[in-house]
Amino acid sequence: MRKALVAANWKMNGRRSANEQLISALVSGAEQAGAGVVDIVVCPPAVYLADVRQRLAGSLIELGAQNVSSEKADGAYTGECSAQMFQDAGCSWVLIGHSERRARYGETEEVVAAKLLAALDAGLNPVLCVGETLEQRQAGKLVEVVSSQVVSALSTLSVDALSKVVVAYEPVWAIGTGLTASPDQAQEVHAMIRAVVAEFAGKDSAQKMRILYGGSVNATNAESIFAQPDIDGGLVGGASLKAEEFLAICRASADLAAVG
Ligand code: PGA
Repeated sequence: MRKALVAANWKMNGRRSANEQLISALVSGAEQAGAGVVDIVVCPPAVYLADVRQRLAGSLIELGAQNVSSEKADGAYTGECSAQMFQDAGCSWVLIGHSERRARYGETEEVVAAKLLAALDAGLNPVLCVGETLEQRQAGKLVEVVSSQVVSALSTLSVDALSKVVVAYEPVWAIGTGLTASPDQAQEVHAMIRAVVAEFAGKDSAQKMRILYGGSVNATNAESIFAQPDIDGGLVGGASLKAEEFLAICRASADLAAVG
């Protein structure tokens, strides 16, 4: 039985006062929303991690970063933050290879793999984001693209390292667009990802791996998506900026866990 996980990806949004309100609403609603039954993670912009950490203290909500340097050792890398720094700042999670980073900041599969290793090395749990563009899907390349993203980042990891990794399937065409993959479409890709992982890591590791769906998840569609057998929660962008909506998404996941 895999424990569900719902992660908030704030992206480049938020200011101190708005964050304060958002976090205090999340903290007071967390228990009711099923924190503990479901792992809940918040990934604010790096500059606000310390603030948010302070406000999360004593709650069941965990902290994550949105990106990390591929460099492991300290040094002359202006503007970068290392995995060890995020660990030191109280993060237990980090998003790796989000499609916005791949598309806008030129993150190649090699860079993504290096970031993932740096995260694991520092004791962070990576959330590896994968997903196809609309053109790739329409050209029939979905399986090729997504499996290559999974294989290049994960196929050389030990069983132990792999057990710390969560995968997020985020079709690029569904991110921030209001379009979601249908529950069936998402389930099909999640099952495919699990089969790919089983090929290089064995069935047991693949069965244990949590695979989240991301792309316009909201309080209305969360339940039908999370109800799919290979979908273990969600990575939520826009809807994570509204406390009530994000808590409702967590609740949908927790209710399904209660049903079993
Ligand atoms: P969205 O973003 O929920 O706003 O579509 C999801 C993500 O990019 O992680």
